[in-house]
Amino acid sequence: MKSEFSVPVWSPAVPENQFVRCSGHALGSVQGESADLLIDEILGKYASIGWENLHIWQRDIAVPGWNNFEPGRSALAKLVADQFSQRLQATSDARFGRINQIANWNERVLDIVLIEPNYWWVGTHVADKIHRRWPGGVFMIDPPEDMISRAYLKIAEAMAWSQLPFQRGDAIVEIGSSPGGACQYMLDQGYKVTGVDPAEMAPSVAAHPAFEHIRARSLQVKRKVFSKFRWLVCDANVAPNYTLDTVEGIVTYPSTAIEGLLLTIKLSEWSKAAEVNSHLERVASWGYTHTMARQLSYNRREYCIAAWK
Ligand SMILES: C[S@@+](CC[C@H](N)C(=O)[O-])C[C@H]1O[C@@H](n2cnc3c(N)ncnc32)[C@H](O)[C@@H]1O
Repeated sequence: MKSEFSVPVWSPAVPENQFVRCSGHALGSVQGESADLLIDEILGKYASIGWENLHIWQRDIAVPGWNNFEPGRSALAKLVADQFSQRLQATSDARFGRINQIANWNERVLDIVLIEPNYWWVGTHVADKIHRRWPGGVFMIDPPEDMISRAYLKIAEAMAWSQLPFQRGDAIVEIGSSPGGACQYMLDQGYKVTGVDPAEMAPSVAAHPAFEHIRARSLQVKRKVFSKFRWLVCDANVAPNYTLDTVEGIVTYPSTAIEGLLLTIKLSEWSKAAEVNSHLERVASWGYTHTMARQLSYNRREYCIAAWK
């Protein structure tokens, strides 16, 4: 592609790590009095590089979950996206693609990152991974009004990101299931769900015909109970090694045939993030040939391991 830019704007070679939500090639920033002027400047400077998708998203203004803040739901980003849309419709130029949609695989995305209302960064990336197809790397889901807990968002994102081949009717066990946001999501998707937790489940989950509650700590549950599950989810608020010891005890038991895992690993302090690769090696040592890790956009001081055989 011809480009006046010296950086390889559509090169997929972008450094990533498990705690980076979205990455790309920075082209520069724009600042000004009004959104209209900034849009003009971006179209003037960057139109020649071409793109199929425009992802307009705001830098997080708080920790996910704080005071109802969730990433990717910004009114400012919606406002700017609407202004861009009007502007591009007026030019009737089909080259400028779609705005804040999920990109198709390997499409080219122009990112507009709203740092402040009048200060935006512009960059590019190629949608070559599932999370890189989502605006700002955030999995978008409209939770139900009666969402039981934020774990609903976390498991929805974990399932989408991991791309594990869950099928309706699959049996899933969740360790650390109370009050039940994740179970609520999994039941909504048509799975059979067993929750292991000494604490109470929300009444709507407890009464669901496809739900079973084992009201105990995981170590109190006989290992053979786990032989009927295809998938294991763990969201217990315990130290990483406790989670890994617990899951290891279950998945290495002879009658267990769990194909895939989605584990939330809680980090008591950020420095523990340095242990991610050793956690993945440990999970791989149980026979899971594929492992990956990501701090999901709905995660707080924690990250998610996905593993499958
Ligand atoms: C973050 S909450 C889980 C939220 C839940 N996944 C949801 O969807 O609402 C952590 C839960 O882990 C449970 N827990 C802690 N240690 C546990 C263990 N050893 N076995 C089972 N549950 C445990 C706690 O009782 C608590 O309910």
